[in-house]
Amino acid sequence: MKKTIAILPGDGVGPEVVEQGVNLLEVVGKKFGHEFLLEEGSIGASAIDKTGNPLPEDTLDLCKSSDAVLFGAIGDPKYDNDPEAKVRPEQGLLRLRKELGLYANIRPIKVYPELADISPLKRERIEGVDLVVVRELIGGIYFGEPRVRKDKGLTAIDTSLYTKEQIERVVKVAFEMASKRRGKVTSVDKANVLETSRLWRETVSQIANSYKQIAIEHMFVDNAAMQIIKRPSEFDVIVTENMFGDILTDEASVIAGSIGMLPSASIGLGVGLYEPIHGSYPKAAGKNIANPIGTILSVAMMMRISFGLEKEAKSIEGAVEKVIQEGWRTRDIVTKETKKDKILGTKEMGEKIATVQIRRIG
Ligand code: IPM
Ligand code: MG
Repeated sequence: MKKTIAILPGDGVGPEVVEQGVNLLEVVGKKFGHEFLLEEGSIGASAIDKTGNPLPEDTLDLCKSSDAVLFGAIGDPKYDNDPEAKVRPEQGLLRLRKELGLYANIRPIKVYPELADISPLKRERIEGVDLVVVRELIGGIYFGEPRVRKDKGLTAIDTSLYTKEQIERVVKVAFEMASKRRGKVTSVDKANVLETSRLWRETVSQIANSYKQIAIEHMFVDNAAMQIIKRPSEFDVIVTENMFGDILTDEASVIAGSIGMLPSASIGLGVGLYEPIHGSYPKAAGKNIANPIGTILSVAMMMRISFGLEKEAKSIEGAVEKVIQEGWRTRDIVTKETKKDKILGTKEMGEKIATVQIRRIG
């Protein structure tokens, strides 16, 4: 198979973790006989520094003409402390999502038994957790108009807007996913207060009628925030709107012990985008300490979802599992049992996974 992949390292630790994703793509390509053509583009704060634009046109063109995008992270503290900044790194990612029509963001949360003790939640509560959040990604309050300041800046308006069609397409992704998993969908909304949520719930119920084999449950977002911590193993697929999904996925990442372990896929009208769910983690940038596993597992999702390469995806996931079982750790996933000589840097962890990957059959 021959595929073109756009590589967008972005800001902070993005370039370091993406480098390990790129190495792994090369290893997987060689092992399974695929040709992955990689082309790099700039985005985020680093793109603003170079061009003044958080998503330069040539980066957008590159993504549109590729078969998939591998993305690192975005954001720089110098913008966080300046809410007045007209151009912000995040605008690059938001525009890219919109331009590529990436309406469904898929964030799986899985607990590795060897890492259960690093989670702040009790082991017995999180053992066996295997859930996926499907987050709507290009609608809701992130994109609704008007979005303005009035009254000399003293009144601010954001608009949460959803059309039925926007809800339908992402909800279908969740139902399809549940039908290949444990057959349960939890739809999260705030239908006791918000009109968009009432439309959301109505639409979900209609779609549920054509998936009789799927168990559907509706939950208010405040309650969902509580249940994700109290009984996470009871969830299979959670589907929700953009803003709720943003918040709940950060919350759910705590279950896995380290956000550094978690991958994501954003899919929609064409090209898919794959990124670790952690942010740019500026304090760790350039120190070779960030965990590259979130990025590496994102590459596995790319193989499966964009290219239909299940064997390749399983092989990457298997290599990660093996490395964890063998006790290798980056700093964020160190346990009480970890010996000093088992603690690896970003690069060394990436190389370890690549080596196991080459050694393993299939
Ligand atoms: C995420 C991030 C982004 C979001 C930011 C960087 C714009 O938090 O991918 O979850 O809010 O969607
Ligand atoms: Mg977020």
